[in-house]
Amino acid sequence: MIPYYDLKSIHLGEINSMKKVASEVIESGNYIFATEKFEEEFADFVGARYCVGVNSGTSALHLALISLGIKKGDEVITVSHTFRATVAAINYVGATPVFIDIDPETFLLDVDLVEGKITSKTKAILPVHMYGNVVNIDALKRFNLPILEDCSQAHGSYHNNKHVGSSGIGTFSFYPGKGLGALGDSGCIVVNDEGQYDELKSLRSWDDKSIGFNYRMDNLQSEFLRIKLKNLKNIISAKNIIASKYNKYFKYSKTHIDNYNSYHIYPILVKNRIKFFNEMRDKIELKCHYENPVHKQTPYRKLIFSKPNMFELPVTENISSHQVSIPIYPTVNHNKVIDLIMNNKEYLL
Ligand SMILES: Cc1ncc(COP(=O)(O)O)c(C=O)c1O
Repeated sequence: MIPYYDLKSIHLGEINSMKKVASEVIESGNYIFATEKFEEEFADFVGARYCVGVNSGTSALHLALISLGIKKGDEVITVSHTFRATVAAINYVGATPVFIDIDPETFLLDVDLVEGKITSKTKAILPVHMYGNVVNIDALKRFNLPILEDCSQAHGSYHNNKHVGSSGIGTFSFYPGKGLGALGDSGCIVVNDEGQYDELKSLRSWDDKSIGFNYRMDNLQSEFLRIKLKNLKNIISAKNIIASKYNKYFKYSKTHIDNYNSYHIYPILVKNRIKFFNEMRDKIELKCHYENPVHKQTPYRKLIFSKPNMFELPVTENISSHQVSIPIYPTVNHNKVIDLIMNNKEYLL
């Protein structure tokens, strides 16, 4: 059985360094408020001026929206083809998510549909670099709206040689299974504006101006992340080699020539997904990201009465009905993955 992902074996090469920093942190007696070394190194990796470590990618999105001044009554344009946290954060600040459909070639926010959704209430666009593939951020700039990039699935992805999130403000999740994952929950915001940086730092730990949040990153996670960051580019290069082999057989989500895809997830599309999963049971562990798009989840369904056209998302619905994520990590036996899937190629769309 080929596992989808094997964090334990992925960490084996780093286990001694991890045990060493864990002892150092334990013996230091300091467990929070010393994450700046990681923050500097991650800002440097991304090519942003600042990084603010927080306790999850969800908190990162929440604080980033506050720092952009998004509030009740505002609308934020985003996609339904994402993890629910992207949309939940818009709700946390009292704003309304406005869904737009995705491009059938890239499975990413369809930039050509944005204009039709802009109203006087639109205060930001929240693109998601799903699967490590990259939204055309330069094309989004023409709308002159603040852009908050959800880079939770795109550590090490580039648009026109610029790392995602580096052109204004972006958020990352370091959930263990992510491209750069901690050994627990954490996340961060990268930002270039100094005023926004100061506000974000203040907001994450009981600032004086608001009710306040406890959204801090732990020192221990920041030290684990420093170790893993050193090897991230090598891992992504190895994944790109595997992806180039997969791409010969599975011609689905396309990467535009201007972009570098970090391949956090490798999607394929199949007919009859339940039967396909059954066929592959005991052979390859497969996942699905995500079978229930956000607009179909219970809290959002009721909005259909007030905003019916927000729910016309045929591409999103089609992709979410057929998407399957196949294993992609440096040690995966990719030839066997290809063979096993091609032996059942009648399922491929
Ligand atoms: C696109 C996207 N946004 C936000 C998040 C939320 O991150 P976290 O789980 O660290 O809160 C995730 C994590 O799954 C994600 O994939």
